[in-house]
Amino acid sequence: MNTQHPWETLDPKYIKHLELVDVQGVPLLEDTAEQWDMIWDFKARPDDLLICTYPKAGTTWMQEIVDMIQHGGDAQKCARGPIYERMPFIELCLPKPLPSGYEEADAMPSPRTLKSHLPAHLLPPSFWEQKSKIIYVARNAKDNVVSYFYFHKMDKMMPECGSWEEFLENFIAGKVAWGSWFEHVRGWWEAKDHHPVLYLFYEDMKEDLAREIRKVAKFLGIELSESVLNRIVQHTSFESMKANPMANYSTLPDTLMDTSVSSFMRKGTVGNWKEHFTMAQSERLDDICARSLAGSGLTFRTQL
Ligand code: A3P
Repeated sequence: MNTQHPWETLDPKYIKHLELVDVQGVPLLEDTAEQWDMIWDFKARPDDLLICTYPKAGTTWMQEIVDMIQHGGDAQKCARGPIYERMPFIELCLPKPLPSGYEEADAMPSPRTLKSHLPAHLLPPSFWEQKSKIIYVARNAKDNVVSYFYFHKMDKMMPECGSWEEFLENFIAGKVAWGSWFEHVRGWWEAKDHHPVLYLFYEDMKEDLAREIRKVAKFLGIELSESVLNRIVQHTSFESMKANPMANYSTLPDTLMDTSVSSFMRKGTVGNWKEHFTMAQSERLDDICARSLAGSGLTFRTQL
């Protein structure tokens, strides 16, 4: 991979805050909504692996872990290109004539590892039909929303997000890109009962990364020696990934992701929400979480 990805040379005329457009009750970025028919018709393959998350739940972290597992812990092989080039983001569409994630994926030889933020009920049906493996990473709502807020501030194509208070209200109401966090984490939790979905938690990865990497390797049917496992743990630590230009999005221009506002690898912790939430906001979100997840068996840790 030695050509530049279209995002790296994006003509500034395309860089603007995108609008949200409703697709089957879920707000999606306008270009994604415009090309929705093509995305819905996406042709998954049986040997595809899909990494799926609500935005800012640890997607990039899981992508780098998976790539390292697939390449026997060889960091040089994982440096063959930036993470967004190694694993197409299937529903991400930029204005035409720029290529879309699904087109990049279509052009890729098997076996492919793909990225998506779609809620389970909007996943292109071919993934279910082909029984492609899916890894889902969930993160507690409080840290997730804080991370999403900073991402809106730094990514110049995300919708305008207003103040923290306004953004939190929109997040709770599901009026943000990719919709309701509550429906997302719950929908995928239920999907694992009828499809090969490995459902993991950001907090568990922070608690014991080696343990969670072992689960991923087992799901992929790949054996890891202790030395390879240790290399992957080291390579995918927050500090290593923050310093890795192939994983930290620093290859994108500042006009697209303004790192003076926030870096992509911002804090990488469990509990950063405490620096942003008032007591009232915290209690309110706890209450909504409890009600939305009731009866599902799904629980989250907001501190370790
Ligand atoms: P913060 O904004 O809380 O720091 P995504 O890849 O889904 O966009 O998620 C980005 C979030 O995952 C950011 O959270 C980022 O710092 C965090 N992250 C990325 N790599 C990580 C790692 N190796 N360890 C811990 N957190 C990581």
